[in-house]
Amino acid sequence: MQAENAQWWRSSVIYQIYPRSFADSNGDGMGDLRGITQRLESIAQLSVDAIWLSPFFTSPQKDAGYDVSNYCDVDPLFGTLEDYDAMVARAHELGLKVIIDLVPNHCSDQHPWFQEALQAAPGSPERDRFIFKDTPETGHPNNWGSVFGGPMWTATRNPDGSTGQSYLHIFDSSQPDFNWHNEEVRAMFRDVLRFWLDRGTDGFRVDVAHGLIKAEGLPDFTPDPMAASMGGTEELAPWWGQDGVHEIYRDWRKVMDEYEGDRVLCAEAWVNPLSLMAKWVRNDEMHQAFNFPYLSCDFDAKQIRKTIDESLQEFGKVGAPSTWVLSNHDVVRHATRLALTDENPQGEGIGPNTPNLPEPAVGLRRARASSTLMLALPGGAYLYQGEELGLPEAIDLPDDARQDPTWFRTNGERYGRDGCRVPLPWESGKPAFGFSSTGESWLPQPAGWDSYARDAQLEDQSSTLNLYRRLLQLRQDHALGTGTLQWINGTEDDVLAFANGNVLVVANYAATPLPLPVQAHSATELVRSQVEQSAEPGMIPGETAIWFQLA
Ligand code: NOJ
Repeated sequence: MQAENAQWWRSSVIYQIYPRSFADSNGDGMGDLRGITQRLESIAQLSVDAIWLSPFFTSPQKDAGYDVSNYCDVDPLFGTLEDYDAMVARAHELGLKVIIDLVPNHCSDQHPWFQEALQAAPGSPERDRFIFKDTPETGHPNNWGSVFGGPMWTATRNPDGSTGQSYLHIFDSSQPDFNWHNEEVRAMFRDVLRFWLDRGTDGFRVDVAHGLIKAEGLPDFTPDPMAASMGGTEELAPWWGQDGVHEIYRDWRKVMDEYEGDRVLCAEAWVNPLSLMAKWVRNDEMHQAFNFPYLSCDFDAKQIRKTIDESLQEFGKVGAPSTWVLSNHDVVRHATRLALTDENPQGEGIGPNTPNLPEPAVGLRRARASSTLMLALPGGAYLYQGEELGLPEAIDLPDDARQDPTWFRTNGERYGRDGCRVPLPWESGKPAFGFSSTGESWLPQPAGWDSYARDAQLEDQSSTLNLYRRLLQLRQDHALGTGTLQWINGTEDDVLAFANGNVLVVANYAATPLPLPVQAHSATELVRSQVEQSAEPGMIPGETAIWFQLA
């Protein structure tokens, strides 16, 4: 292991690739590993440190690959293991680390172990790898609800057609949860880690890292309206955030530490408050955790400052860097979300019938200001593919194109996450905007995405892409990731201002211009979120963020 200050992940920017929607090399409308390899240079040009790939493993794709039937192979939809090796080699050549998704809470119902469990008798070792319970005469073994809607239990059928035992699934019925008290399950995942580490993989983003252990006895939970969400509610549901998960990560950390080159584990743990989340990144557990409280902030100076303070404090207490994130493949894209006026729980999505649909220009302006502030913060940052293009949520997807299990399990009540997963536009005027050569695209791309295409944005100095390029380059030049934050007080309530080394950052969360702090008066402007926006001298325009170089 390297000395603390050399550990790359402490200050890294990690770019999330959603393989289905990044680039399609064979024209079938589904992104693939070769497509990633071919387009990787554009990502390296963003001055990011690593890529994280959502699942590309063998899977029936009932939950876009988060239903894995073979953890040690590539699904033919995405290519082969050789394609993976070639992609890793290319990434390393370009100076990018590669993080992949590990899905340990559940597998696919097509995984051989689950198929064996279905064939085996109640109480058998095969069933003990999962969570099977006798099905009561009426209802389910307890009252838990799936994150995707409906009950968390599905009853099996006995060979004679009668109702058999029920199995637990936090997500879709095609995603049975593993029993993490079972030693075979633990051993299997140690092998999975080693399989990918041996192939040069630099780390894992750990899916549902707060769900692997359920409360003893599986007690009923009196759900509040948010109970079906990914967690993060004040009252911890008995399937989230149980203490028993931590010994699993301590065990994995030992495996990671057997390898050279600072391999990392990053937790997807939707728990609140941040003091609880910090448990996932104690020094013998994972390295990083996604900062979902930060992602969940409104466009509101007070909330953001409070969350930044708490993050630095709580992660700092356990010696971990904070991370920052605004978008991913599960939430409404922040170029749309930040202009929503109604609450939008994770996974809910928005669609044409959502009340109070946001104004796109407002969303984009706020998104650019938010990313400008975020990329100046010390610690690690995560970007989600397409945010550097300012992509909005695709709201008008036709109902018959939607694929998220949430849409099906709630009979269309919740739109789910398809709107943030639409394939990327690369080249304006080309079929599928350059995503695939044939024009095929597994989710339809909205008409009019030409202006978001990467090639068009490269030409335009005021584009979101060029803003991200400048911010990321400056972040690197000024070593902001390893810096420290010092608030500048005395500004208007809607203005946040801080120094990180010799960079002064000012953000105005109000719609109208407000005074800049005096420190900005003699400083040189480095970059601003909206070039066309101007204000009187000494003022910062509304919904804008600016970086200055302090003398
Ligand atoms: C979290 C992933 O990010 C999400 O996309 C997936 O549906 C669930 N975990 C289940 O694996």
